[in-house]
Amino acid sequence: AEGIVPPSQDWSFNGVFGTFDKASAQRGLKIYKEVCSGCHSLNLMYYRNITALGYSEDQAKAFAAEYETTDGPNDDGDYFTRPARPSDRFVAPFENEKAAAASNGGKAPPDLSLMVKARMHGADYIYALLTGYKEVPPEGVTLSPGGHYNEYFPGHQIAMAPPLFEDAVEFDDGTPATVEQMAKDVSMFLAWTAEPEMEDRKGMGVKVFLFLLVFLGLAIANKKRLWAKLH
Ligand code: HEM
Repeated sequence: AEGIVPPSQDWSFNGVFGTFDKASAQRGLKIYKEVCSGCHSLNLMYYRNITALGYSEDQAKAFAAEYETTDGPNDDGDYFTRPARPSDRFVAPFENEKAAAASNGGKAPPDLSLMVKARMHGADYIYALLTGYKEVPPEGVTLSPGGHYNEYFPGHQIAMAPPLFEDAVEFDDGTPATVEQMAKDVSMFLAWTAEPEMEDRKGMGVKVFLFLLVFLGLAIANKKRLWAKLH
């Protein structure tokens, strides 16, 4: 059975002039850091990338330094760990897919970098998934071991336990951390990780459109001027 179509949310990045809500995405980064990153990697992100969310380079440096990354081989051919730097990729919670599956009852938590692009309905789906758990499955549904009932997950049985609960994180800006708020913010953040260049892309589209509009005006004026002589 397919999941239900998730309701559309009013995202700031919707539409031609859409932009990411940076404050929301910053809260989302904190949720990823404190909740999701326990299980999910974000392999396409580098620590330096967070400056695009409004953090300074020093803040990105400090953020990176909280993690230990594996580097090497050094001159002796050894691999070693060192504090991460802005030029490093986000450190993954597990060594590889096999270890990730082994720690999660056989189902590896997928990388979240492109999740908003990989799933139908993108951020609407992530939001719906995170808020769509039912503690008690509907009549007649028997959950398999390790399965959790979710209205929006295709097949409805997901190996991920509900990751969000009220006040799971404490936001620096004082926003109350309800499940809905966190689901919204982490979806905003993941929309950004999936397409960090979206604002540039849309900005270019607007410029191209304006250019064409001016060009059209000039072409019409020119056409009128040329044909006027032929009367
Ligand atoms: C799957 C998001 C936290 C374990 C997923 C999927 C998403 C997601 C989008 C893919 C669903 C699909 O395939 O359509 C998140 C977010 C989290 C979070 C945003 C933080 C708020 C966690 C945590 C764990 C976890 C903390 C482990 C304790 C899993 C597992 C799957 C999964 C095992 C695979 C489920 C299956 O295929 O049945 N998660 N997750 N997740 N997640 Fe999470």
